[in-house]
Amino acid sequence: MKKTGSQVTIAIDGPAGSGKSTVARRVAEKLGLLYLDSGAMYRAVTLLALQEGLAADSPKLIDRVETCHIEFTDNGSTILLNTEDVSAQIRTPAVNRLVADVAKIPEIRREIVKHQQRIGAEGSIIAEGRDLTTIVFPNADFKFYLDASVTERAKRRLAELHAQNEDATLAAVEAEIRERDEKDTTREHSPLRTAPDAIVVDTTDKTIEEVVDLLMTRVCANEG
Ligand code: DC
Repeated sequence: MKKTGSQVTIAIDGPAGSGKSTVARRVAEKLGLLYLDSGAMYRAVTLLALQEGLAADSPKLIDRVETCHIEFTDNGSTILLNTEDVSAQIRTPAVNRLVADVAKIPEIRREIVKHQQRIGAEGSIIAEGRDLTTIVFPNADFKFYLDASVTERAKRRLAELHAQNEDATLAAVEAEIRERDEKDTTREHSPLRTAPDAIVVDTTDKTIEEVVDLLMTRVCANEG
């Protein structure tokens, strides 16, 4: 692997349903890297807002973000908010509905980005989200942008919902994904963008294994 000093940083961005979380987790396991799910941090702050009855743009929430403690354990699969395991609670429909509004507040982003950069400074890392290649780790050793068609991403999301025994139609899920894409790409602060030096991977017709192999090949080709 290409090294920066003794550390390597791999950053992945992409829209919801592009497969970046699963791929990043697998690559982290294969290469023994720390896995950082940046979206989980925005979700934890959103949960905090809901727990304390604070609006997304409330100054009190910004104060709370500055003092709250967010930590990952089990190599990124468990997230602790002020020592409480909130890994399941951050995936509820209430959090899903509010998180984009919280993630667009610049003061909240500033705190979360600082935290992510501190985690990144501690060792080799693979981090995924919406602004990892552009804002959080602009000097990452490897940058990837994962994408897939809206219909394919909706099908993946629908399969997840069905696996959780939740009912939804493809049309409704597609509409929800389009709305999230719109919010993520048009917001004023740190919108989802493809970094000019990112390797773009269209995952529409690829399996997770194929995408993992593709990333591994790119990373390991630069070993030395
Ligand atoms: O990837 P996800 O669905 O868990 O992300 C949750 C929300 O957080 C989504 O609205 C996009 C936002 N997000 C962000 O603004 N910046 C990131 N680096 C990661 C996620």
